[in-house]
Amino acid sequence: MSKLHQLFENNQAWAAQIQERDPGFFMKLSRQQSPEYLWIGCSDSRVPANEIVGLLPGELFVHRNVANVVVHTDLNCLSVLQFAVDVLKVKHVIVCGHYGCGGIRAALRKERLGLVDNWLRHVQDVYSRHESSLAAIAEEHDRCNKLCELNVIEQVLNVCQTSIVQDAWTRGHELSVHGWVYGLRDGRLRDLSITMSRPDQIPNDYQAALTKLLMAESVSK
Ligand code: CO
Repeated sequence: MSKLHQLFENNQAWAAQIQERDPGFFMKLSRQQSPEYLWIGCSDSRVPANEIVGLLPGELFVHRNVANVVVHTDLNCLSVLQFAVDVLKVKHVIVCGHYGCGGIRAALRKERLGLVDNWLRHVQDVYSRHESSLAAIAEEHDRCNKLCELNVIEQVLNVCQTSIVQDAWTRGHELSVHGWVYGLRDGRLRDLSITMSRPDQIPNDYQAALTKLLMAESVSK
């Protein structure tokens, strides 16, 4: 109980601090939100979306799940995407993975953790798609980080292939989908050089991003 009490104290201090900097901040925000970005990231407690990109409440629409996976039958993720694109009219969708992802590692090791194994089956599908490249990486740590990157690229592709994004582009809605990865060890974001803004660029840019990624040396992150 005392620990939870601490959370309320933290909250009061946080709200007071924001209110002092910008009186009326919360009242303004309570009337509307108009974020420019949708963040699709991992649930990992070490990757807090707003904090790592320095955005305030109201500036980032967020969906998080284990290993930042976008599945075409996941009504939760698709509803967030649809609301963000069609209603909030975000301009950017960011898929952000992270090095040292426990979900990715569990998928790589085929660990049996419970229900979540079924979810991570989607990451194992990414592994299978790139098995020859991944199997050639000697160190498990490096193989895991490469799979973190490849998973982002595949999820960017999944976002682009949804009817939501395809229809938005057909309507002429300016919308870009990006792939990033975050380093737990240095707190830094890296752009994986995959940014899709039109349907016709998907095949080439997907291939180019993959080639660049698989040619890059495995580095310890
Ligand atoms: Co993770």
